[in-house]
Amino acid sequence: MKFNTVFDCSLLELDKHQHETGNISIVENGNEVPFDINRVYYLYDIPGGEDRGAHAHKDLRQLVIAASGSFDIILDDGKVKRSVTLNRPYIGLLIVPGIWRELINFSSGAICMVLASHKYDEADYIRDYDEFKNLKK
Ligand code: TYD
Repeated sequence: MKFNTVFDCSLLELDKHQHETGNISIVENGNEVPFDINRVYYLYDIPGGEDRGAHAHKDLRQLVIAASGSFDIILDDGKVKRSVTLNRPYIGLLIVPGIWRELINFSSGAICMVLASHKYDEADYIRDYDEFKNLKK
């Protein structure tokens, strides 16, 4: 986690199966994502102007998808910041451990779906930015 940079985070394009009745994209363990998925959670009903995130993880890997609507993710490795807009349900952002992230600019009705490598563990969070900066030195 110490040496991961924002450039280790990458966009992943999922297959989109198009049908007249609508589209479907699929994520399976061992195929699309470079980790086993042990948890799925999603953010929704986000009030206008609210931001989420503002933390880093020690070990957790995540694939973040705008299942509906759009939002921006600010990635920060302690040295470099990078902004990524997610606005397609078939594009995911892979976030490696050791990256501070903030989720901002949620559109009305946005759904942020996260596929995660581990179950929820508060001990895996770094919620203090100064602590994060120290760990990345
Ligand atoms: P948090 O990850 O801080 O939210 P975000 O990054 O979206 O702003 O989680 C918010 C709250 O939800 C926090 O109190 C912990 C709880 N939570 C769980 O209980 N299980 C989970 O899997 C997640 C992601 C959060």
